[in-house]
Amino acid sequence: MTQGIKLASSPFSTSFIRSVRIGPFFLLNNVFVAPMAGVTDRPFRQLCKRLGAGYAVSEMAASNPRLWASDKTTRRINHDGEIEPKAVQIAGSDPAMMAECARFNVERGAQIIDINMGCPAKKVCNVAAGSALLQDEKLVGHILDAVIKAVTVTNNVPVTLKFRTGWNRQNKNALAIARMAESAGVQMLTLHGRTRADLYTGQAEYETIAAVKANVSIPVVANGDIDSPEKAHHVLQITGADAVMIGRAAQGNPWIFREINHYLRTGTHMAAPTIAEARKVLREHLLDHYAFYGEFTGLRTARKHIGWYVSDLPGEEIFRAQMNQMQTCEEQLAAVDYYLASLGHDQDYLDRGAVTINAHPFLLAA
Ligand SMILES: Cc1cc2nc3c(=O)[nH]c(=O)nc-3n(C[C@H](O)[C@H](O)[C@H](O)COP(=O)(O)O)c2cc1C
Repeated sequence: MTQGIKLASSPFSTSFIRSVRIGPFFLLNNVFVAPMAGVTDRPFRQLCKRLGAGYAVSEMAASNPRLWASDKTTRRINHDGEIEPKAVQIAGSDPAMMAECARFNVERGAQIIDINMGCPAKKVCNVAAGSALLQDEKLVGHILDAVIKAVTVTNNVPVTLKFRTGWNRQNKNALAIARMAESAGVQMLTLHGRTRADLYTGQAEYETIAAVKANVSIPVVANGDIDSPEKAHHVLQITGADAVMIGRAAQGNPWIFREINHYLRTGTHMAAPTIAEARKVLREHLLDHYAFYGEFTGLRTARKHIGWYVSDLPGEEIFRAQMNQMQTCEEQLAAVDYYLASLGHDQDYLDRGAVTINAHPFLLAA
């Protein structure tokens, strides 16, 4: 269970950590957390940033003004206390509405606007937004121009673009989109190495990301299936990208950002968090989560985060089943802490796959 620092076969002679510039902002490092609707809310983004993510983009804000007054949008545009820069992602297909949405978010504190052309979700794609837009390059151009005019030209707020390699494998137009974006004035590109038709299947490919990087001079962020320090290093090396962006591998594992940072800086592995630290981090995350969502919604939306935190730990299924029955945030918080404490001593490392349970995982009397 005690892991300590492991040496990689050849520690790096130079660091792979770089600052990335987006307009007036110099980011602390080149390891970013990906926007994930329903996951990267303000409490989780803040946690990832505290644990080493150099940059985070908020979940998507709908471009339809009728949705702006909803609880969901109100929470999504709440950046109180967030470590800067505050970046907001917008999605939609109507250039004028997208421009209006960008302005609306800038008025509420957004310092960077990210346009989503990467999301394959039906809800987004049915209205030809997200990655569905890649099929219509002319419309992409109109959207970029409208949003840049609305916030960059008038307020000097940088606009960035997140997209996929193309519509499907026969129609990979990432390079054309990247060039168009650069000449329109987009200041950073994030490219997920899959097409829209791939959804999340198969493996992300990095050749297209390398080709885009070689052909534009704005920063390029590589995204897709990066789930370890070695993979982050590998992807930076083979694509020449300026940064990596981590999505699913950060779910329940916000420590991945400092672990990748450490590896890119030194070529050595950092120890997993101790059980004491995991208890502290989860407690802080959950308290922030409950405060953000309130008791009713907070209790329910915290379940998925807790489920990710305990995945691959002993007794996780039993624990999850019982935790899901709990009816107050206080009970839920206590259950999580009891479960983690049962995994070992405070100073033991929470090394997934290696911990054994010391106490009975059943939380409720039979
Ligand atoms: C639950 C979930 C929600 C997502 N929501 C968004 C989103 O709102 N905007 C976006 O651009 N991408 C979204 N994505 C895509 C991720 O940002 C990222 O591009 C993708 O997961 C690939 O990276 P990964 O392999 O590191 O997870 C989402 C992905 C997941 C799994």
